[in-house]
Amino acid sequence: MRHTVTLIPGDGIGTETSAAMQQVVAASGADIEWELAEAGAGCIDKYGTPLPDATIEAVKRNKVAIKGPCTTPVGTGFRSVNVALRKSLNLYVNLRPVMSIPGAGGRYDDVDLVIVRENTEDLYAGIEFEEGTSKALELIDFIEAQGAGSIAKDSGISIKPISIGATKNIVEFAFDYAVKQGRHKVTAVHKANIMKHSDGLFLSVARDVAQGFEGRMAFDDRIVDAFCMNMVMDPTQFDVIVFPNLYGDIASDLAAGLVGGLGLAPGANIGKEYAVFEAVHGSAPDIAGKNLANPTAQILSAAMMLDHLGEQDAASRIRAGVRTVYAEGRCLTGDIRRDGREGEPATCTGFTEELIRKIEEL
Ligand code: NAI
Repeated sequence: MRHTVTLIPGDGIGTETSAAMQQVVAASGADIEWELAEAGAGCIDKYGTPLPDATIEAVKRNKVAIKGPCTTPVGTGFRSVNVALRKSLNLYVNLRPVMSIPGAGGRYDDVDLVIVRENTEDLYAGIEFEEGTSKALELIDFIEAQGAGSIAKDSGISIKPISIGATKNIVEFAFDYAVKQGRHKVTAVHKANIMKHSDGLFLSVARDVAQGFEGRMAFDDRIVDAFCMNMVMDPTQFDVIVFPNLYGDIASDLAAGLVGGLGLAPGANIGKEYAVFEAVHGSAPDIAGKNLANPTAQILSAAMMLDHLGEQDAASRIRAGVRTVYAEGRCLTGDIRRDGREGEPATCTGFTEELIRKIEEL
């Protein structure tokens, strides 16, 4: 069956990894028609925004999109394309499976966990007050007048909202996903001992939802700092892990680091109506345009997209091809080749050609 998918190549290494991903998807046998849409730093001069309305419309039309990373220009006042996309399409779930790939040089070879990150609120809600502005000073006065504490007048302020509704949605998604995927445990991560009215609320809603799954799915919770230590010492103790937005973002990179780095970590932003698949990593300006990027993360994001579209065979072929290329270890990009192996690392295009050969052989 033919599927039309919106492709947002993004910028930086996004254009390179997106091209690699398209070739690999074609080799997998899936019949995808790509509808190109623009986003990222390059759109600012052209359209006055890094996320043109036409791009949001294109995702709404096709319901499924895959995107490369987009640079967020620092200090220009433009918000992150990702944050804006997630908000405007209500993509409330950020799903990031983390799995060891033998041969990828990760610190562990038996990691198999799934990060479920709330995607719309918390400190990422974008509600901020710049230091020294009249609004920031008014807010500081208001907080003091409430007897809620005092804030230094030279503070900038970011607001951390955590709601019952959004927490219920994300925790229910985590439990439903865990049941459907035959997983055994959901862990909620928080700092409820300190932030009682935001993280404390997150934890109490998570416990309520967990009660509805009693007998069907195990549940526990961890304080975020202890969780980080536990992850580094023994990530196999975790299965499906549900987080408020900020901790989930940080834990995703931590988890990626345990299995070999950002070049390997796929992801998806999922809502009730739309899904946008993207790697965890950013636009990597330090290596952009040099044919050095590892496209694996975006290719594995495409495999998640194919699962979502019901094309499980094509997705399995891609994953099997990736496992073979890493297990053979002859043609891997520089981010993986940290172990002083002899010979030049593969380029992005070299890795992609090798992967396509393996997929065709399998
Ligand atoms: P980054 O993920 O782009 O890079 C961090 C480090 O990892 C760099 O040394 C980079 O070379 C390396 N790296 C990342 N992906 C790689 C890959 N596929 N292959 C090989 N090496 C890879 O994070 P950074 O530097 O913090 O952000 C750069 C830009 O990307 C910023 O403008 C940021 O806002 C944006 N960003 C965009 C995201 C998205 O669009 N989904 C997500 C994260 C950051």
